[in-house]
Amino acid sequence: MCGIVGYVGKRSAQEILLAGLQKLEYRGYDSAGISILSGDAIDSVRAVGNLANLVDAVQRRSAAAPAGPDGPVAVATRTGTTGIGHTRWATHGRVNETNAHPHFDTTNRVHVVVNGIVENYLVLKQRLIDEGAQFTSETDAEVIAHLVSHHLETMAEPSLTEAVRAAYAELQGHYAFVAMTLEEPETLVGARKECPLIIGRGDGETFLASAIPAFLVHTRRVQYIENGELVVVTPGDVTFLLPDGTELRREIVEIDWDEETAEKGGFETFMLKEIHEQADAVAETIADRTVRTDGVDLAEEASFDEALLHGVRRIIVVACGTSFHAGLIGRYAIEEWARVPVELEVASEYRYRNPIVGEGDLVIGITQSGETADTLAAMRLARERGATVLAITNVMGSQATRDADGVLYTRAGLEIGVAATKTFICQVAVMYLLGLRLAELRGTLDVATRTRLMTELKRVPHEIDALLSGLDLEAIARQHYQREFFLYLGRHVGLPVAMEGALKLKEISYIPTDAYAAGEMKHGPIALLDESTPVVCIATDSPLLDKVVSNVQEVRARGAHVIAIASEGNIEIGEHAEQVIRIPAMDWMLQPLLAVIPLQLLAYRIARLRGLNVDQPRNLAKTVTVE
Ligand code: F6R
Repeated sequence: MCGIVGYVGKRSAQEILLAGLQKLEYRGYDSAGISILSGDAIDSVRAVGNLANLVDAVQRRSAAAPAGPDGPVAVATRTGTTGIGHTRWATHGRVNETNAHPHFDTTNRVHVVVNGIVENYLVLKQRLIDEGAQFTSETDAEVIAHLVSHHLETMAEPSLTEAVRAAYAELQGHYAFVAMTLEEPETLVGARKECPLIIGRGDGETFLASAIPAFLVHTRRVQYIENGELVVVTPGDVTFLLPDGTELRREIVEIDWDEETAEKGGFETFMLKEIHEQADAVAETIADRTVRTDGVDLAEEASFDEALLHGVRRIIVVACGTSFHAGLIGRYAIEEWARVPVELEVASEYRYRNPIVGEGDLVIGITQSGETADTLAAMRLARERGATVLAITNVMGSQATRDADGVLYTRAGLEIGVAATKTFICQVAVMYLLGLRLAELRGTLDVATRTRLMTELKRVPHEIDALLSGLDLEAIARQHYQREFFLYLGRHVGLPVAMEGALKLKEISYIPTDAYAAGEMKHGPIALLDESTPVVCIATDSPLLDKVVSNVQEVRARGAHVIAIASEGNIEIGEHAEQVIRIPAMDWMLQPLLAVIPLQLLAYRIARLRGLNVDQPRNLAKTVTVE
């Protein structure tokens, strides 16, 4: 996740870009930068750290103009009315100033800001270097600046639009970018492949951004750029293009959002917005790590040395709450694929148990916030006893990143809703990546199986989008929102999904829930069932599906209501469950990434019908820094 903003108009671009970036800071905050065009110069200011550092750097630069050594150029920063800005969440390349955006070509005439991943950047980079380009960063994004520049230089009639269109045809991956060039001072050209990009239409000025809040104080008139489209932006005009050059018409939509609604992306709550951001979040999390067809790449990670995985005899996951459930799902995948034993430990118990842990153990602390006191304590204890400690977290610079030998980041972007949704799904994705990488290192999965799983994993973001666009749980939620108790059942990898569904419902709706291994039901919980009990059964595809179906029949025999989560094509479950919520078919081990989504939404709809504040459930905090 990164945030992009662009402006062409008649006002000082500097203030507009900085204010816009402030609204996008949630999309990335390890570095930021702006480039502003004025006269015959483009001036760039970039800074590591949060946006305040960039604001300071820009102020210093503006003050230096025209007296300082860069005086004539720095004037652009103060006076220019065309510019682009970026706030970065590092994927390729370390967090430093040269890797911060905007990036530029060798002649400093083309500047770009990019969100997302260019998968084929290595091939393109080599070709451009062979043609004389000089790269200054380690990023994949810089290749776009050089590629656009290359096309400009080789065209009979250079045009930024045509150069971007030619570059777009060569780029693989998922991204959104905005380019500008000295030769066309009042033009920005944007392109969108999956990552978001939106236009704001002002009076004699036009904005481009990853999200509407970046320009909402200036205009409420927006135009949506669809996936796979390019856009040519000038102060008074916007042209939409297909990659083949066909021009499109796009209506201007007047939005009536207030600032708060805008920050929620038009959704009624942050939680609902974040549920809908899950395709993007998983795409970002797996993107550059799944470029190879037959295996996962973790070697490029700045915060993680793959040597940490060598010689691992046992994995112990320490975590709390939802993060614990992500670890549980990961256990099934890692044990199945890589044949390494994985133990799961609730961090608050583990830290006081005098655990047997030491050399040869890899202890993985999973924590979205990176600040959960119990998880940190468990990680520290394990490290003191000689174990290698890995953190899986969403927050750069958090304590977990400092207490670990290595870090694998989820790239979910800022999560505001207290109930974890997109961070959970990204934690699960990282556990899958780890499982696949370990399997390759240990030679426990053949190439064909790894290739199949990689293909399936890369399909997940698309399937999440498809699932979310077709899910309507209103009728089920209305039927059950006043019940006093819900039971969740699952087996194998479906069990942690059930546990997560039960936690989501209880924490935001305050309805008591229990989650059980379906095979354990007859050892106690079956006594709870009567005609008023909704039972949510995770009946996704697995070698144990027949047994789950038998459990569903046992539940129905007690008169309880069964809501089953099952994949498309599972006909049999329809004969036994009262309601079936369908998810796209996919490799069974990966299905939790899809199956949890209806559970999040069911909990959400029920809580809303009960009139509750889902973003801030009572007694809960987003970061639990006390034990
Ligand atoms: C539930 C939830 C919590 C957290 C738990 C751990 O929706 O968010 O259960 O998962 O407090 O938090 P982190 O992941 O920050 O360590």
